[in-house]
Amino acid sequence: MKKSIKIIKILGIETSCDETAAAVVEINNNKISILSNIVSSQVDLHKKYGGVYPELASRAHLENILPAIKAALEKANSKLENIDLIAVTAGPGLVGSLLIGVETAKALSYANGKPIIGINHWLGHIYSNFVEQSPPFPILNLIVSGGHTGLVIMKSHQNIIQIGQTLDDSAGEAFDKVATMLNLSYPGGPAIEKEAEKLKATSYNLKPIRLPRPMLNSGDFNFSFSGLKTAVLYLTKKLGKQKTRRLRAQIAAEFQQAVIDILIGKTLQAAKIHKPKSICISGGVSANIELRKQFKQKVKKIIPQSSIFYPPNLLCTDNAAMMAIAATFQDSRKYSNWSKIQTDPNLKL
Ligand code: KG4
Ligand code: ZN
Repeated sequence: MKKSIKIIKILGIETSCDETAAAVVEINNNKISILSNIVSSQVDLHKKYGGVYPELASRAHLENILPAIKAALEKANSKLENIDLIAVTAGPGLVGSLLIGVETAKALSYANGKPIIGINHWLGHIYSNFVEQSPPFPILNLIVSGGHTGLVIMKSHQNIIQIGQTLDDSAGEAFDKVATMLNLSYPGGPAIEKEAEKLKATSYNLKPIRLPRPMLNSGDFNFSFSGLKTAVLYLTKKLGKQKTRRLRAQIAAEFQQAVIDILIGKTLQAAKIHKPKSICISGGVSANIELRKQFKQKVKKIIPQSSIFYPPNLLCTDNAAMMAIAATFQDSRKYSNWSKIQTDPNLKL
């Protein structure tokens, strides 16, 4: 952040997947305040497909982007002329979705002569953990969302290295697809979490179900969730008509536990090697209460020298406030004029 500027206001814009989001964030002497955080959700649009339908997502972004920006400015009691910087998600994500946010941000930057910065979506999730808390370095980040799953080591704000990622589906995507298989609602994460809870309330003696934990002991920090998803598919097919309500809750609970075991297992393997002071979990799946509970217990037991951090609930799933916050931690030499900003659906950290 520029040292000479005491108070700056940043307009954040995020359209990398299926949420059209705009936010205004104020930095006053290093204190971050979220003045507005508008998320126009497309959940109803994608519900019947059990996942994001890219063409529909970009059309909806086109319709929603200006109303979302207008609402964010109004809620923050701000006008475009009072904005000091525009921060927009440049990638990774769905290209048709990203382009709407990036080109809108560039047009606003051009028309108002405002500096702009393109932000990596992963950085946004990482910095969602920097509101009202400052996790000490080195930080091990687990980013776990609908579009991404990976591990990132941060030795400082400038030294950020990705050490692992999913080789196929993200954990959130697996939650969404498995929910569809079990006839649960979309998005799948909260629905499976609720279904799994039902099992705790039953006192029946159930025959155990065991699903695989793919790549848990692969010796690297990569993930794979497609085999787990397919295992659920075969299991539901095999059970066919015998699929009772109790069995559904049991599959949901075992699937959720398999994902939790993989996420915690890999993160702790990385923590043993990289010895972080902080472990920061972010992204939509980080809202899962059972995941949080078990993470806390395991970290306390296995690596008590590390502290665990989560974002506020509102910043777990995609939003534009986290993109604006990420921008405040970037070197001000990266702020540029509109012509330098490019969309990159495969952007790396
Ligand atoms: O961060 P996000 O908005 O997406 C991307 O960056 O792509 O996260 C959305 C994902 C969805 O797949 C959703 O099912 C999952 O996060 N999710 C959850 C929970 N809440 C949202 N997964 C597990 N448990 C939850 N409570
Ligand atoms: Zn995300």
